[in-house]
Amino acid sequence: MKKKYSTIHPKVKGFMHGGDYNPDQWVGYPDIIEEDYRLMKLAKCNTFSINIFGWSAIEPEEGTYTFEWLDKIINGLAEQGSHVILATPSGARPAWLSQKYPEVLRVEKNRQRNLHGLRHNHCFTSPVYREKTQQFNRILAERYKDHPALIMWHVSNEYSGECHCDLCQAAFREWLKEKYHNNLDELNHAWWTGFWSHTFSNWEQIESPAPHGENQVHGHNLDWKRFVTEQTIDFYKNEIVPLREITPTIPVTTNFMGSYPEMGPFLGLNYDKFAKEVDVVTWDSYPAWHGDYQETSELAADVGFVHDMYRSLKDGQPFLILECTPSLVNWHKVNKTKRPGMHLLSSMQSIAHGADSILYFQWRKGRGASEKFHGAVVDHVGHEHNRVFREVAELGEVLENLQEVVGASVEAEVAIIYDWENQWAIDDAQGLKIENKEYINTCQAQYQAFWKKGIPVDVISMDKDLSKYKLVIAPMLYMVRPGVAERIETFVSNGGTFVSTYWSGIVDEHDLCFLGGFPGPLKNVLGIWAEEIDTLYDKEFNEVKFKEESSLNLSQTYKARDYCEVVHPKGANVLAEFQHDYYQGMPALTVNRYGKGEAYYIASRNDAQFHDDFYGEMAERLDIKSVFSEEIPKGVSVQRRANEHHEYTFVMNFNDHEQTVKLTKDHVYVDMVSQREIKSTVVLKPYGVVVLKKC
Ligand code: GAL
Repeated sequence: MKKKYSTIHPKVKGFMHGGDYNPDQWVGYPDIIEEDYRLMKLAKCNTFSINIFGWSAIEPEEGTYTFEWLDKIINGLAEQGSHVILATPSGARPAWLSQKYPEVLRVEKNRQRNLHGLRHNHCFTSPVYREKTQQFNRILAERYKDHPALIMWHVSNEYSGECHCDLCQAAFREWLKEKYHNNLDELNHAWWTGFWSHTFSNWEQIESPAPHGENQVHGHNLDWKRFVTEQTIDFYKNEIVPLREITPTIPVTTNFMGSYPEMGPFLGLNYDKFAKEVDVVTWDSYPAWHGDYQETSELAADVGFVHDMYRSLKDGQPFLILECTPSLVNWHKVNKTKRPGMHLLSSMQSIAHGADSILYFQWRKGRGASEKFHGAVVDHVGHEHNRVFREVAELGEVLENLQEVVGASVEAEVAIIYDWENQWAIDDAQGLKIENKEYINTCQAQYQAFWKKGIPVDVISMDKDLSKYKLVIAPMLYMVRPGVAERIETFVSNGGTFVSTYWSGIVDEHDLCFLGGFPGPLKNVLGIWAEEIDTLYDKEFNEVKFKEESSLNLSQTYKARDYCEVVHPKGANVLAEFQHDYYQGMPALTVNRYGKGEAYYIASRNDAQFHDDFYGEMAERLDIKSVFSEEIPKGVSVQRRANEHHEYTFVMNFNDHEQTVKLTKDHVYVDMVSQREIKSTVVLKPYGVVVLKKC
């Protein structure tokens, strides 16, 4: 449904623009702070996240609080009209805390306790750390609960990592006891511990995975990862107790991450679980634009996939970009500046996919330590006369022009299933291509076909409701948790179209292989039996050819690489066949009629042309519409947000050269970026963007 979501707080009327502000690093520089306020206005920034790493500046000694500097900053920001996102500072702690309570220090996989230093270096189980963070958050919430600038809590920072201390080991065992009903036999079976004589005879023998200990029992690895997610969420829940109690109307979030250089979600935590506990999903987006290993437009599609995933975590509710860089980062392998125009373009892309903010790391470059060369709005030079500042200010203006887009929804009829636990299990499996089985790339390869056509896609976990989609694609659905196959069956029998690929329906939620033939519980709906899977060397390939009498309007031959599965139809029709090797003439693509719907199975990893043609055909058959009726040139992305009144069409050129895009005849649009009227065609500059609204 076209919908307008409300903003995260009634005080927020438009896009939030601004970001991490670390004045705690500048307490001895009052002139700088004064200058910041002037520059913030010039940059058209209206929202700042503060106190992310402010703990030692507020509590320099245990129980001694020096809030005065923070009072000044919050008041200063409020006076110049900014909203404040207030952080709880648990991501890094004062040295006195580690010194006095060493149990808060994290123990690594090798069972060595870290020294004090860095950040994100704490135990999530430690009762002391839980108590100290909660206590601090209570004092913080009490102090600022009525502050007019406060619009959101930013809890900690990018939770990540795991601790292997004795407290965590004990908590892990308790977690396992609960999960396996205090029954060690149940655990031994789920983990298949008969293998290599690993059967446990008492709970105390169980430890977290370790490089010098147990690390080959997949059910064990999987449960540890699940435990780490739950323990992290539990720590977060402990942190927010006072926030919920004292400021019940202030929304709470924590910033999620992406993975780089391969653009995907962060894999250390199951965000699908975490998202349920935050009021709004936020993420820190740092794509390596203009890299030499991927075309900018391909990277843009991968970034789009992650945006769509994070939007889908809360069923379409707009997300926030809590961090991105106005220019470069300092931790990619090669730290390239964003080319002119890319900052506006990449920001518009985030918004096109459902973001309601563009917030940066960080406002001003620090003078010292490891992030001094990370991009920021204000550079060491300290004034506004540079390219980055100008581009930020330009974006600030555009965001003001786009204000009515805030809260607009993205409507998708297609969903791609991406699932964290599935990723963990695939990565752990020994077989196929050991180093990288490319699960995320496989999901993104299907996604690209829709991206090029301007067809919106949701990216969902296997537990989500499927009923609102026309087409659901589950690439490499290796793990099938209980209930999932049944929901897919219901979806298809009610008329939905389901597509799955090779290496699906292999293991259950414990990473135990399904017996009785793959794709396990998906056999019925797919109408096939997958006998074996062949892995090809990098230079090898097979070919997939559509049969002449195939029900799809396709006749070409496509290349298959990496994986070819030997599949037998068990009720399904064969649409395409392999052309070579001992499985020549065997099914490469099948379709099974099931109830009112259809289920397709792609038996090999095929080239982009296959995805373009196959999904093009699917879109036509299922009447899945592009948001754009004219041709979309290569490297251009078209996305749409809409509310009850208007549609906003984002046309974005990810090429380093101009592109001309034809528009629907007889329509007059206003480009909300330039505020100009546009008719019939638009010429997009290199990295140019227009946001079209019908006049
Ligand atoms: C983020 C982090 C920020 C800053 C930034 C640099 O992951 O939350 O504090 O370090 O990276 O890109």
